[in-house]
Amino acid sequence: MRIRVLGSAAGGGCPQWNCACDGCGAARDAGVDRTQDGVAVSGDGSAWYLLNASPDIRAQVLAAEELRPGPGRRDTPIRGVLLTTAEIDHTAGLLALREAETLTLYATGTVLGALPIVPILSRYTDLRLRVLPAGEPVPLEGGLTVRAAVVGAKVPRYAEGAEGEDWVCALRLRDERTGGVFVYATCLPQWTEEFDEFLRGADVALLDGTFWTEDEPALRAGLTRTPRQMGHLPITDVLPQLQRHAGTRVLFGHLNNTNPLAVGEAPVEVARDGQLLRC
Ligand code: MLT
Ligand code: MN
Ligand code: ZN
Repeated sequence: MRIRVLGSAAGGGCPQWNCACDGCGAARDAGVDRTQDGVAVSGDGSAWYLLNASPDIRAQVLAAEELRPGPGRRDTPIRGVLLTTAEIDHTAGLLALREAETLTLYATGTVLGALPIVPILSRYTDLRLRVLPAGEPVPLEGGLTVRAAVVGAKVPRYAEGAEGEDWVCALRLRDERTGGVFVYATCLPQWTEEFDEFLRGADVALLDGTFWTEDEPALRAGLTRTPRQMGHLPITDVLPQLQRHAGTRVLFGHLNNTNPLAVGEAPVEVARDGQLLRC
């Protein structure tokens, strides 16, 4: 399986366009530009799937050589988009994919039902909605199988009051040819036994790196809400759990601009935009 990191930052990116905080300032000074969270995956190198579609998707697709269109005028290697949340930073890029001849979207029923973009997009492209049932393996083109697990119930702000439990998912992708397993969980509010089992045996995992420490939102942004209340377990609370997963290469993505690891050296592996991983 090939895994291309398209973007490694949380909503807003790093630096964020209107933010003069220390983290965004440091990113500007260092020339760091992390676009918003998403990856592209493929089993055979020809059929690709996007995991989330950030507002930066156009630039991300242009930067990934495997996603180059052709040979037909509107042929694209992108076979579909799998969404892990209905948040704006994971879904606004769908609008930029409206030129697709067909667009297949995979997400939980709750997420598909909540997206205001769905009725809009269906006027522009042949939109195909596929419910990802939690726990059940779903075959994809190119020899991949995906399984979703519900990991959180945080409702996006625009959908407050909407029904449903399965708002936030992790994805486990398996290459049936090589046996390689990739787990993608960049929004992880808590570490449950179910998630521990879901991660078990993965070769590569991209986990929630929004915040480095529990007190970071308070210290670096003056916020009263904790990382958990925002739906993101801080990295320092994840690290002890990883002792049970020594065989898994873990990278952290979806970095917030308060996260000191977004710029410069880091004591853990932090995903970089454009990075190619294999398993
Ligand atoms: C999140 O990851 O918690 C959301 O994307 C926050 C947001 O950008 O509104
Ligand atoms: Mn986000
Ligand atoms: Zn900032």
